Amino acid sequence: MITVLFGPPGSGKGTQAMAVAGRFGLPHVSTGEMLRAEVEQDSELGREVAPIMSSGRLISDELMIRVIESRLQRADAAQGVLLDGFPRTVPQAQALDAMLKRGTRQVDLVLAFVVAEDVLRARILRRGEIEHRADDTADAFAQRMTQYHEETAPVLEHYAAEGTHIEQIQGEGTISEVTERIADAFNRSRVVPAS
Ligand code: AP5
Ligand code: MG
Repeated sequence: MITVLFGPPGSGKGTQAMAVAGRFGLPHVSTGEMLRAEVEQDSELGREVAPIMSSGRLISDELMIRVIESRLQRADAAQGVLLDGFPRTVPQAQALDAMLKRGTRQVDLVLAFVVAEDVLRARILRRGEIEHRADDTADAFAQRMTQYHEETAPVLEHYAAEGTHIEQIQGEGTISEVTERIADAFNRSRVVPAS
């Protein structure tokens, strides 16, 4: 039960992953959170990625593939995971397919969040005022959107070409309304039993 939460910055991937992780008993694997933890710890990796993240650009595929490969080998990932923020490029998606295939697994479901860009911007700038996340500035948001359109949007075409089950999720409305849409999508896809 490998589910990919897919969508632009601010579309609610992290918020919704947290909401459904407990409900479906699947670990939330967020590459952004993992990298922010490294920055917080001031590790060698954290020092390497911090300036790239705060500018809104993407970390190299090679590094991200290594990070996710070791995360998926942990015992709690055996029953499946909610992937948030990975894959973010077509090479990352291809590498994920290859590593899952080695364990006779695959991506079972892609939840693709749809949110208007002005709503995304408003969410990110509001969080920037409250939490001061380094990339929640107007400039970094613009760069994150550029990266999304150029590098990340093609990932959805990759999964469509692979015949992966994709569910479009209307990501506007209250957080709990969106969570219910996701629960319905899980039920339709039948990859996770209804709670
Ligand atoms: P990452 O942490 O993945 O950031 P992101 O996808 O750019 O953006 P967000 O996390 O802000 O979006 P989200 O969709 O999770 O929305 P959220 O739930 O937080 O990546 C950060 C950086 O790390 C990248 O730019 C890159 O540098 C690096 N990186 C990470 N993974 C990588 C990879 N695979 N390859 C290369 N580089 C990588 O919600 C946003 C806000 O909106 C919150 O305040 C939330 O409370 C609010 N909100 C959510 N839902 C609603 C709602 N329904 N109504 C009102 N407000 C809402
Ligand atoms: Mg997030």
